[in-house]
Amino acid sequence: MAQKVEIVIDGKTVEMPVLEAAEGLNVIDVRGLIKEGMFTFDPGFLSTASCDSRVTYIDGDNGILLYRGYPIEQLAENSSHLEVCYLLLNGELPTQAQLDAFIGDINERMPLDDHFKHIFDGFTENSHPMSMVCAAIAGLASLFHEQLDISDAGYRKEAALQLIAKIPTISAMAYKKSIGEDFVEPDPSLNYAENFLHMCFGKRGEAPNISPTLSKALDKIFILHADHEQNASTSTVRMAGSTECNPFAAIAAGTAALWGPSHGGANEAVLDMLLEIGDVSKIEEYVEKAKDKDDPFKLMGFGHRVYKNFDPRATVMQSSAHAVLEEQGASNDPLLEVAQNLEKIAREQDYFIDRKLYPNIDFYSGITLKAMGIPIPMFTVLFTLGRMPGWITHWTEMVANPFKIARPRQLYLGEHKRDYTNIENR
Ligand code: ACO
Repeated sequence: MAQKVEIVIDGKTVEMPVLEAAEGLNVIDVRGLIKEGMFTFDPGFLSTASCDSRVTYIDGDNGILLYRGYPIEQLAENSSHLEVCYLLLNGELPTQAQLDAFIGDINERMPLDDHFKHIFDGFTENSHPMSMVCAAIAGLASLFHEQLDISDAGYRKEAALQLIAKIPTISAMAYKKSIGEDFVEPDPSLNYAENFLHMCFGKRGEAPNISPTLSKALDKIFILHADHEQNASTSTVRMAGSTECNPFAAIAAGTAALWGPSHGGANEAVLDMLLEIGDVSKIEEYVEKAKDKDDPFKLMGFGHRVYKNFDPRATVMQSSAHAVLEEQGASNDPLLEVAQNLEKIAREQDYFIDRKLYPNIDFYSGITLKAMGIPIPMFTVLFTLGRMPGWITHWTEMVANPFKIARPRQLYLGEHKRDYTNIENR
């Protein structure tokens, strides 16, 4: 039955419809409120749905994450990242023929034009790889600007294929630049994760030599990061895209938003924190700092805006992390010992239990990536690579339907109108 909500403004009753969700909470449609001379106030969007979407569903209280209805645990166990990309973009799992064609489309688009590679010449070896990746994604906008027509489904599909295909190449080039080595070209005989590892750790002219344990774990990391509904970076892509800008520019904006330590930068921040703690004997001191309201220190990799029980991605990642650590012989890494003890202490103390602060995916992905030999500044780049299909799917969903430019309002608390004073009179 259609629900509605009534509010009374200066004695006048205003009715607002309630929109029914397929899963999860229904939402009050406040669009008519502006006619009554009022806005809603919700900094950080804690109580606001910014759009409707059919891509991903999260039930934070029960630790559920579904891509197009499929549970993340099933996809991580049985699928591959490129199949998940197809699913996100098209809404359904592919047949074998559709998947083969999609993989062919991606492989064909992986190489970067020779002239475009010079974009990396503007950076030094100690440039942060996220800065290079942001710049290179924004740079792709130049290559795909003349045909720009976001109302054309063909253009949208091409943009999606280009971004999913080129992000491993760009990411690996950013890494090679940071270590001063020659770029390695993509190899169409390798799968997506293998190709990325080959472009990072292979040498030009040498045959690929990829560990199946590492490529499987990396593919799983990509699947687990592929989408997460209206998170900060995806909302940034939608917001930038709502101006009808070039989609590659909108994705570059999302990449910049992902960089922050409260979002995708957390896996890098986890490792920085573990290095800072350094030894099991220091854990108690850092846990006390995290609990101290006068200290800005937080336990990186703990807590989540939406998951207030457990992060289902963290559960999958935890077991995958162990396989990698074993193969890499890193089980005795002192950092890992710090991580395991930190997790145990934080899970036992009331401060963390009361606030439902559990280890999130970044906690385990940080440890896994470290064991794989991926340098810490590259961690957020790996997240960027994984999240690409989610961003471009949300952009596509938005522009393929009627949409408005995102233009929030504000609660103004500044000065009232006042007259300018000449400088000599101040
Ligand atoms: N360490 C210590 N205390 C914490 C932590 C933490 N990691 N996270 C939250 N808290 C405390 C807050 O101080 C607050 O305490 P109070 O109620 O006494 O004031 C309470 O828990 C609620 O925290 P909020 O900041 O209100 O939670 P919010 O949902 O806004 O923030 C966030 C979520 C940003 C993820 C936060 O938990 C955090 O900063 N975690 C560390 C960074 C991190 O791991 N980010 C990754 C996010 S997941 C991702 O992007 C894939």
